[in-house]
Amino acid sequence: MAEILDGTNVSEEIIHELKEYFSDKKTKLATILVGNNYSSEVYVNMKKRKCEELGIDFELIRFTENAGEEAVINKINSLNLDSNVKGILVQLPLPKMMNTKKILNSINPKKDIDGLTAENLGLLIMGEERIISCTAKGIIRLMEKYNISLKGKKAVIINNSFLVGRPLCQLLLNKGATVTICHELTKNLKEHTLSADIVISAAGIPFLIKEDMIKSGSVIIDVGITKKEGKLTGDVDFDRAKNRCSYITPVPGGVGPMTIAMLIENLRIINERTP
Ligand code: GUN
Repeated sequence: MAEILDGTNVSEEIIHELKEYFSDKKTKLATILVGNNYSSEVYVNMKKRKCEELGIDFELIRFTENAGEEAVINKINSLNLDSNVKGILVQLPLPKMMNTKKILNSINPKKDIDGLTAENLGLLIMGEERIISCTAKGIIRLMEKYNISLKGKKAVIINNSFLVGRPLCQLLLNKGATVTICHELTKNLKEHTLSADIVISAAGIPFLIKEDMIKSGSVIIDVGITKKEGKLTGDVDFDRAKNRCSYITPVPGGVGPMTIAMLIENLRIINERTP
């Protein structure tokens, strides 16, 4: 039976320390939310609650789906110039008609709390870990907390995005793992996962990863969150998979809370650079 990678517990420890750090500081995080994507509303609300718990000023700026790219970029430009605003977050996904890369790259890289500007992603590829995608960083931190060694391990990531899969690939490479990214065009996913020491799935497809796709003793990280019959479900068939692997993250209570903790940690990193 696998050991549970308890993201709730680990994130609470991290948040506890951060709470002390922010107790005597005035910091502001500005979040831009465009359109009315249900999951984005839920995520932004969780970020807001955590910031408020730590006394961090959380400004939410909403745009309608057809507000236009320029309106969003103009707002980002004014937030870039506002010395009270330490971090800027653009919640993804943006509506299809908006140019996501153009919008993200209008954020001042020094205020890029999610590490999604070309500068911060580029630095990561060059091996310099400055401000890094919160989910990717949270996954690594959770494994480190359980002393899971990554050196020489074979890791398979099921996600090809610059939000999760690609930064995570770089972090795993930096830690000495051999990494494969699987995506929609990957043939025979099972062949990849069955040979992996670590499987990280962020496909958003419930029950994509079944027990017979898992190598015995492997580490299974589930980043998927899908609402199914009123219940949150990950990508992994947890109840069966847990009998085969050595470590597994639950959904909820695994990667999700780690992402929020890393967001606040990134805000601290920014704050320490520009107090
Ligand atoms: N959408 C889903 N997760 C995230 C995240 O961590 N950051 C941003 N900006 N958008 C997201």
